[in-house]
Amino acid sequence: MALVSGGAGGIGQEIVRALAADGRSVVIGDLCLDAAEALAGELRAQGAAASAVALDVTDPDSVTAAMQRIDAELGSVSVLVNSAGWDLLMPFLDSDEGFWQRVLEVNFLGALRLTHATLPGMIERGWGRIVNVASDAARVGSSGEAVYAGAKGALVSFTKSLAREVARRGVTANAVCPGPTDTPLLGALAQATPDAAKLIASLERAVPMRRLGRGEDVAAAVCFLASEQAGYITGQTLSVSGGLTMA
Ligand SMILES: NC(=O)c1ccc[n+]([C@@H]2O[C@H](COP(=O)([O-])OP(=O)(O)OC[C@H]3O[C@@H](n4cnc5c(N)ncnc54)[C@H](O)[C@@H]3O)[C@@H](O)[C@H]2O)c1
Repeated sequence: MALVSGGAGGIGQEIVRALAADGRSVVIGDLCLDAAEALAGELRAQGAAASAVALDVTDPDSVTAAMQRIDAELGSVSVLVNSAGWDLLMPFLDSDEGFWQRVLEVNFLGALRLTHATLPGMIERGWGRIVNVASDAARVGSSGEAVYAGAKGALVSFTKSLAREVARRGVTANAVCPGPTDTPLLGALAQATPDAAKLIASLERAVPMRRLGRGEDVAAAVCFLASEQAGYITGQTLSVSGGLTMA
């Protein structure tokens, strides 16, 4: 079964849909339980095995409760996709401790918590896939996103180190780095600037393919890295950004 954090919205939602279309049972873990349940219901109506659990990756008790429910009722996690993430555009000097901690909690520590909870079972069964949704900001930096880029950079480095630790246990760990992708998060970031349309237009111009990413673009890469066929690929960082980042 595949567990997707942040699976009820944006990119995570498309990852859930794509994994379900690949025939996997999916568990949608999200802060927004209503949206997670609605998506699970929609997928079940299409014949997929899908469930929703309430999950706040920033809260260790919430992670423990979600894992207890999954272990007791929904089965073993063989694919973990850490997609929950959050940011606000802000010059570094305007940010404070509270903001740094929130960004690290959602984008980095949350992934550590879920990995720590699910990896033992993967190792025991000798098969697992961990796919972390990082960001091109981690690879090349991003003005107004210094702390977020740092958190996603930490996620990429964690992914590589973990991949080395578990390489002989049948478990792979890889990171996917979206560029600017058309989701509610990007919409909220843009709306908080003086001219949202101008920001989006400038992002589109910067992408060699001249369009924003779509959740489906990222989901295709995640599904591949979660597949049996990707078993010899580990510790890799794959940009999905229309050519924006070639590193
Ligand atoms: N949209 C982009 O341009 C972009 C670019 C690069 C990387 N990313 C990354 O892609 C991932 C998905 O981003 P998105 O744009 O789809 O965001 P989004 O805000 O549109 O969707 C995020 C989902 O995660 C859930 N979520 C938020 N905080 C959570 C928490 N603490 N615990 C559990 N669930 C939580 C939300 O309820 C929502 O369903 C994030 O990790 C983000 O950093 C996005």
